[in-house]
Amino acid sequence: MAKQRILRFPEGFLWGTASSSHQCEGGNTNNQWYRWEQQGRILTGESSGFANNWWVAAERDFELAEQMENNALRLSLEWSRIEPAEGHWDSAAIDRYRAMLSDLRRRYMTPVVTLHHFTDPLWFTDRGGFANEANISYFVRYAVYAVQALKDLCDFWITFNEPNVYATLGYVIGSYPPGEQNMMSAFQVTRNMVQAHVEAFYALRPTQPGGQIGCCLNYRLFDPANYLSPLDRSAAGLQETFYNWATLEAMETGRFIFPLNMMLEPIEHAAGTRDFHGVNYYTREMVRFDPSIPNELFGRRFVRSGAIRNDPGLDNYFGEIYPEGIYRILKTVYRRTRGNKPFYITENGFSDAEDNRRPRAILEHLAMIHRAISEGIPVRGYLHWTLVDNFEWNEGWSVRFGLVELDLLTQRRIPRSSASMFGEICRANAITEAIVERYAPEVAEAIFGTGAVIERQVPA
Ligand code: BGC
Repeated sequence: MAKQRILRFPEGFLWGTASSSHQCEGGNTNNQWYRWEQQGRILTGESSGFANNWWVAAERDFELAEQMENNALRLSLEWSRIEPAEGHWDSAAIDRYRAMLSDLRRRYMTPVVTLHHFTDPLWFTDRGGFANEANISYFVRYAVYAVQALKDLCDFWITFNEPNVYATLGYVIGSYPPGEQNMMSAFQVTRNMVQAHVEAFYALRPTQPGGQIGCCLNYRLFDPANYLSPLDRSAAGLQETFYNWATLEAMETGRFIFPLNMMLEPIEHAAGTRDFHGVNYYTREMVRFDPSIPNELFGRRFVRSGAIRNDPGLDNYFGEIYPEGIYRILKTVYRRTRGNKPFYITENGFSDAEDNRRPRAILEHLAMIHRAISEGIPVRGYLHWTLVDNFEWNEGWSVRFGLVELDLLTQRRIPRSSASMFGEICRANAITEAIVERYAPEVAEAIFGTGAVIERQVPA
């Protein structure tokens, strides 16, 4: 029988996709993103509208995930549906989520549920959102309510998706609501979200003693434009410290790194409040020192020339497709957290409407994850962003991250070639030589160069 090279993943590895309520459900009109859309703040002038129509028919897309033999799916709950007005709980919303989670379980998919993915109910926004420390208890109360109502269907919870993105884009860059450009507010928001995570963790633990509770952070690579320039190196170091490590460090220890520790109160009992690390990774940027931009921490960010890139968006934050970055991030987070918990890749994806870079990019990123695993980093799952093209926040519908293409007008789903490739990987729990030969033969040597095992080929 023929032999082939193979990168096999650990038994029980979770394979699936990630998504969020506002980006997929449609008809969300009671959160701050809807208001932002109504104010004409989306770069394309679009709005989320019916989105992927998940509130009515998510099951149709779950079926696509099942066909790809995914064994997990990450989605988020829409707080503004569950608690539409302060202290008013909508049992019909819970019923709909119960139906969705039950459907996933029927298909043998593990639900991974995010409690907060960028959207806040309007009543919460109008009280100052996460900028106001007094509001933390609202989030904790909602988290307990939701977990209590759904815990028989799910035991895998993510409190927050990317507090670092929520704070940076909403309060420093201003491209997400509330559109502020105020570094101090961003620090305060980050602090309050970490505190909310810690409080939610302690409140949820007794609600569901066996549940897994984590939080996702977004990590980017910031590399100096010129490695020989100490100024470029410092500017890149500052960016990565603030973007990647300040929130992680606060989550791990409750303390803020210098000089934030001078302005922000430490968080008590933060250590040990995550059962796993959720890693969201997309891209890297190069950084050149520029004294004229103190707001950007003296670093001008740009995409390296010659880089393989995501689709050029209007003002998109996804430049270089840089597979090694996921390995470097896993290694660094592992070291910084002293290897204390397992990892899940809770997001990784590419905007590539034509799907001519995505298959190769998926293979290369997975090979890098495999390399990290073979070096002892406990990565337990990979959730690709995303299943079907969805509403990409400030970029509207212009950016296409789906394994499956969405025709917005007809709601027709058209699986991209990446979808069939991802299905083959999930089915095999491995990257096989046959898969690489079929979808991206040009990277076979890079993929199997190290760490590949030779196995007998099992007929498909
Ligand atoms: C967010 C997603 C978003 C994706 C692509 C992530 O940072 O969690 O909501 O769609 O990036 O932009």
